[in-house]
Amino acid sequence: MKRLVIEPNERRQIEWLVDDVLEEYGQWDPVQFVTHARTVAESLPIRVRQFLRRIQSDETDVAVLSGLPVSQDLEPTPTGWDMAQKTGAGCREEVVLTLCSAALGEPFAWGNQQDGRIVHDVCPTPGMERSETSGSSTAPLSLHTEDAFHQCRCDYVALYCLRNPDRIGTTVVRADGLNLPARLSEILSEKRFRHRPDQSHIGPHGHSGGEADLDAILFGPADSRYLRIDFDDTFAAEEDDHVAREAITELYGYMGGALERVVLEPGDAIFLDNYRVVHGREPFEPRYDGSDRWLKRVNLIRDLRRVFVATGARSRVIA
Ligand SMILES: [Fe+2]
Repeated sequence: MKRLVIEPNERRQIEWLVDDVLEEYGQWDPVQFVTHARTVAESLPIRVRQFLRRIQSDETDVAVLSGLPVSQDLEPTPTGWDMAQKTGAGCREEVVLTLCSAALGEPFAWGNQQDGRIVHDVCPTPGMERSETSGSSTAPLSLHTEDAFHQCRCDYVALYCLRNPDRIGTTVVRADGLNLPARLSEILSEKRFRHRPDQSHIGPHGHSGGEADLDAILFGPADSRYLRIDFDDTFAAEEDDHVAREAITELYGYMGGALERVVLEPGDAIFLDNYRVVHGREPFEPRYDGSDRWLKRVNLIRDLRRVFVATGARSRVIA
């Protein structure tokens, strides 16, 4: 894992940049701002820009920026993404995350995830405790590739920690940390698997497209494998393919042995390479008193044209 700790003068520079953005753009509207975000991100401190650029060129699997600004008068943790304030003082952290994210990739969204918002709120939600969504808490969030089912799944998941008083861990398994037997790697590299959309994509209008193509779980460079799996939603394509089914179970066992835990502190932004790691979250007991864990999240893609081609529209929101 690579980490860059922001220095006080750099933090001030970022705060001034946030002031400038909010003054220039008035009402905070990420959908409108995001098309300019990459240009504005050129004014981030040079060490931050170089760090983010290097993540991409080196294919760094897990990277953290620490010491980013978080408001002293942060509002209480909302009890659901739809309860979060998206204007006023509450949006400063969204500007920070959008700018840092835009220095790494292109933010985009899913129409039926959190109402198509570019910046998501990850916070425990009453009634969702055991779901497979960002509102879950008491059930562990299983290891997964973000949006594994879709060809437009992100290249990076960016999570910005605003509050985590109980030090709940984000769980990560790095492809490079797995030492799989050749036989298992071979099976996982064969196109004999399929991925279902996860619960967060299933809304009143169905899910965001996706595909039913046969797919491999391991792919990419031989010396630096890519992963595509959601342990809740990836399955053997053929019901009687016991070898493929067992391979998933075996992989799960190896992942348990390679599991790493990252505790995010307020002001930490983590960038997870969605091809190089799978991620999840430890279970916790929510209090719903305003002090629960709270993250902001943005999905990033390297080439926005993948989104445009998939949707047939010049839009960052996949309908
Ligand atoms: Fe996730």
